[in-house]
Amino acid sequence: MLKNKIVLLGITGGIAAYKSAELARLLIKAGASVQVVMTDHALSFITPLTMKSLTGRPVYTSLFNPAYGSATIHIDLAREPHMFVVAPATANFLGKLAAGLGDDLLSTLFLAVEPQERPVLLAPAMNTAMFENPVVRENMERLRLRGFELADPDAGTLACGDVGKGRMVEPSQLLQLIREKLVSAAGVDYRGLTVLVTAGPTREPLDPVRFISNRSSGRMGYALARAARERGAHVILVAGPTALEPPPGVELYPVVSARDMHQKVMEKFPQAQIVIKSAAVADYRPAENSQQKIKKGRALTLKLVRNPDILQEIGSSKEKRFLVGFAAETENLRTNAREKMVRKNLDMIVANDLGQEGAGFAVETNIVQLLFKDGRVEALPRMSKYDLAHCILDRVKEQYGR
Ligand code: PMT
Repeated sequence: MLKNKIVLLGITGGIAAYKSAELARLLIKAGASVQVVMTDHALSFITPLTMKSLTGRPVYTSLFNPAYGSATIHIDLAREPHMFVVAPATANFLGKLAAGLGDDLLSTLFLAVEPQERPVLLAPAMNTAMFENPVVRENMERLRLRGFELADPDAGTLACGDVGKGRMVEPSQLLQLIREKLVSAAGVDYRGLTVLVTAGPTREPLDPVRFISNRSSGRMGYALARAARERGAHVILVAGPTALEPPPGVELYPVVSARDMHQKVMEKFPQAQIVIKSAAVADYRPAENSQQKIKKGRALTLKLVRNPDILQEIGSSKEKRFLVGFAAETENLRTNAREKMVRKNLDMIVANDLGQEGAGFAVETNIVQLLFKDGRVEALPRMSKYDLAHCILDRVKEQYGR
């Protein structure tokens, strides 16, 4: 999502400036280019060399520096970025921005930025008393009304020892906000489409306290649901048991067993144009679900019976729908995944290589190959499940549009 995006990162003078280095690192890792501008006060907390080393770009700190080779650096810097971020944003900087003052490079370049045209995210960080100051509050309100996004600071122990609200939002959360802003600025390419996503494991009961399941956490499916929703889709999420917070704005149906999932998916899939099945559905269930807790005996033999193959059933009546399956494999990744794609009549399959660290079940990242019906294969590097979700949606959109 952040590939080829340029983010201007303004750093002002607060102790949270050290976290800006981490934010720059996360942005670069996610594929963005980061252009740093620092105020004089920021230089007391973190050096331009740190930021230059992380971003690979020169760091600008002054309005009038002949070495920049431009007398209008404040305008030049405002032209290129897709998004502007100031983290940390001090009370002083917010006040200048709200009043339209330009007395250094950062505040002056912001006079050439229109938040309605390109997103601006400000991450205030200051002492609680300053944050609660009516003038500061008024400035923040004025900025919000003008279209600036403010990342509401966290509460906790502050640098001065006070406890209260004023800590800058953590870099990982800022990264998520930046992504969301860029996605909505890029447009909602899934508007008007209904996407059905399945996520998580299923649980197949043995008795009132035991079940057979697998290690799926639901992260991959939830990331897909979140990303599709951000891109404007109506999202139906059918999810097995997970501990995750549901993504906002999706129609969520929690289910437990494969048969529950089968029933809900068959009921809902006619509404969807795109179905993405990332759930790890149990292929088998115990033939009997004992009403009473099974007592310890000498040996216990379990008889298992097949569960319905939900995806295969949808594949046999897919009509014009676009179907994406997942395959989690420990061997013969491409051969096994392609066999599933053909057998289940899919348009695309996402093959996770479980042999690689950072791929598959219960981790934050994934390493996959995308296999398409026309024989093409795209191997993707390790990335977060959220970034992968956007990559998958990019490919689905290209194919579905044809
Ligand atoms: O939830 P996470 O911790 O983030 O992990 C993500 C994941 C590893 C579970 C996910 O990326 C993934 O690979 N999901 C599919 C895992 C799998 O076991 O696939 P499979 O080879 O059993 O099934 C192939 C496809 O058929 C899948 O799309 C599956 O949803 C579907 N299927 C399988 C069996 C069945 N009875 N009904 C189905 O619909």
